[in-house]
Amino acid sequence: MRTRFVVGNWKMNLLRGEALELIEALKSVDAVSHEHVSVVVCPPFTALSTLTEHGLQGIELGAQNCHVSQKGAFTGEVSAEMLRDVGCSYVIVGHSERRRDQHETDAEIGRKALHALQFGLRPIICVGEQLEERQSGMTHEVLHRQISEIIEAAGADVVSKSVIAYEPVWAIGTGLAATTEQAQDAHAAIRAHLDQHAVTHRVPLLYGGSVTAANAAGLFSCPDVDGALVGGASLKAMEFAQIVHAARDSTR
Ligand code: 13P
Repeated sequence: MRTRFVVGNWKMNLLRGEALELIEALKSVDAVSHEHVSVVVCPPFTALSTLTEHGLQGIELGAQNCHVSQKGAFTGEVSAEMLRDVGCSYVIVGHSERRRDQHETDAEIGRKALHALQFGLRPIICVGEQLEERQSGMTHEVLHRQISEIIEAAGADVVSKSVIAYEPVWAIGTGLAATTEQAQDAHAAIRAHLDQHAVTHRVPLLYGGSVTAANAAGLFSCPDVDGALVGGASLKAMEFAQIVHAARDSTR
């Protein structure tokens, strides 16, 4: 039985008190890991140690970014070792908002994944095409290029131990999720490409972009969709719980 992942990316939201309230609400509606379903939340850096000290019971912790170096003169940056130290098990790398705003490249994202794994964090590597790229029929080509460059920088071994999130940029925060056909098609293309690069281990592939309680079950029914990376809906306990429960149902 393959494991499903439901990962909440809280982005730049919630003060510590609000983060604690959300965690308590998630526990009260059973939005926690079960056999075959891993539940992860990725709060802002400022809430990480508060949540670890409070106790997460069945919810794993991830960060939203890390630097490529262990330590040094990198003002404003946070290393994978520091994230491990505050209780993280995962780190998102290469989110499209960082590609857009911090001009992160695939090579840099690959180096971050390598660094994260060296310090015991499992990378969640984000890829995905822009709207114009999809409209001009370039989706597979873009995914192919992103993954090739990440593998070149990180190595096939690192990618085989990571999680990959397919997040079409046009679906993020728009309410316009990919259809199950579009998600399955992109995931199958990613899987075929990983196979070509000798990534033999079955890498979990998550879909992200306007995932809601209403569309989660359909997405989880796709043979190559192993879970979801959830933005807006991860800030609402009941809705996130419904997504977690849909993941659980899909394993039965
Ligand atoms: P939304 O679920 O808000 O579209 O965000 C998706 C995302 O960017 C998760 O990383």
